[in-house]
Amino acid sequence: MTDSKPNTLVSEEEIHKRVDEISRQINSDFEGKGTLVLVGVLKGAFIFLADLSRKLTIPHSIEFIAVSSYGTQGADSGAVRLLMDVREDLVGRHVLVVEDILDTGHTLDYLTTLLKARNPASLSTCVLVRKTDRVQVNVHIDYLGFDIPDVWVVGYGLDFAEKHRTLPYIGVVKSDSD
Ligand code: PRP
Repeated sequence: MTDSKPNTLVSEEEIHKRVDEISRQINSDFEGKGTLVLVGVLKGAFIFLADLSRKLTIPHSIEFIAVSSYGTQGADSGAVRLLMDVREDLVGRHVLVVEDILDTGHTLDYLTTLLKARNPASLSTCVLVRKTDRVQVNVHIDYLGFDIPDVWVVGYGLDFAEKHRTLPYIGVVKSDSD
């Protein structure tokens, strides 16, 4: 992998337009239902969550959760462990998990099982990008930004070895052979 500027896969304008659309849908779906708890999955979701939350006109609170994949095969092994939990009690609350990317689906599957066991009033999911060809576990997504091909994406919170998280667009990292 090189350090050169990643090629654009989803432009800044396309992201903002989609975040606008998703936030309008969430505003309408949760209108009058009390304070929605947004649960951002660290680290990658921090920028998406920040933009989304600032577009919401309904009352909402912000929580974070952190997980990590076990094993040398990363998420492909399917085993996920909790590194940091939310602070709020979720019993009887409307909860929306906000993820940057759904790759194999194991992380979101683990998180929805974990959070459903806390008896929220409802549990919904919002994912910025989904790699359709990589999905191993079918997890329901209520709000989806974009379906993307199986390429290594960076930017808008997504990283490659901690690089490129703050790019304003979603890009594809070039391989050394490019
Ligand atoms: C990414 C992403 C998801 C997970 C999705 O996290 O933020 O949490 O992978 O993969 P899966 O669908 O195959 O389970 P990552 O491990 O890159 O950590 P980061 O968000 O801290 O960069």
